[in-house]
Amino acid sequence: MAMKDWIIDLEFERISAPIKVLKKCIINPLANYLPAGLLKAWLRAGKSELALENWKDPGGWRSMVISYNADPKQSIDRMLIKSGAIPMALRNRRKLAARLMARLIDLVPTPPAQVLCLGAGPGHIVSDAMLEARHDSRATLVDISSDAFDYGRQLAEDKGLTERMTFIQGDVRDVHDQLPPHVDLVKMIGICEYLETPQIAAIAESLAEVMPAGSSVVFNSISPLHGTDRFFRRVLGLNMIYRTPADLQAIFAAHGFGEFETFAEPLGVYNVVVAKRLGGAE
Ligand SMILES: C[S@@+](CC[C@H](N)C(=O)[O-])C[C@H]1O[C@@H](n2cnc3c(N)ncnc32)[C@H](O)[C@@H]1O
Repeated sequence: MAMKDWIIDLEFERISAPIKVLKKCIINPLANYLPAGLLKAWLRAGKSELALENWKDPGGWRSMVISYNADPKQSIDRMLIKSGAIPMALRNRRKLAARLMARLIDLVPTPPAQVLCLGAGPGHIVSDAMLEARHDSRATLVDISSDAFDYGRQLAEDKGLTERMTFIQGDVRDVHDQLPPHVDLVKMIGICEYLETPQIAAIAESLAEVMPAGSSVVFNSISPLHGTDRFFRRVLGLNMIYRTPADLQAIFAAHGFGEFETFAEPLGVYNVVVAKRLGGAE
């Protein structure tokens, strides 16, 4: 089965044509150009947990968990999360990445598949994938934020995965010092947009040392097509690095990866890319 057939039954969130026009002509310009102080005061008055978490830790795991949650406490967050392009695209990316990873786990020739997650947060995507896969797997989750793991350990317990998940606090920029001896599948979802190009290159170079031929890395690109980058920078303090899938592929191609396959989520914000290790570690 071709990789694109793995995802044909996934149901993604979409934005209707009239809402797209409304966003483009009214909502996004207001979010982008109203005074930042006014927008921050509005978010504070509405007790937005999404904004508070972003102010504390821009792009951190807690704001991701709030975006994954269908029913946040505050009405302002319900509005932002249900209709904001980025939260919708994040949920699409989670589904897409989890499905691709589940099928990649099933292709590992000698189970249990060893999965390494960089910038893992509490592990929603990898745990979705491990539960959906037919074959056995073990995951090592690396994140700079140790409190992601208190939440992550509870999540693992709730999903019956405690024995299969290991949490390591660490900086992915030092991944060379934290690599397990053998890795079948690497997940870099939600991390490349916070790393400089030489940092991604150094990670790819380190991964290439422990990944056998045919093993996979799953990463994502982000495009400014969501239309509210100015809002994210000015109001939430979130500075993301936009790259095309081709930009990221070029970085990985320089370090022994190829056979790239790209999967777009329907809002056009994220592409999830699967790269194969060519040649490979002994
Ligand atoms: C946007 S969240 C993505 C979480 C998860 N991968 C997902 O997609 O649901 C980014 C995560 O990367 C972590 N992170 C950011 N920079 C990091 C670094 N240099 N080393 C390790 N983790 C990092 C953050 O703590 C956060 O948990």
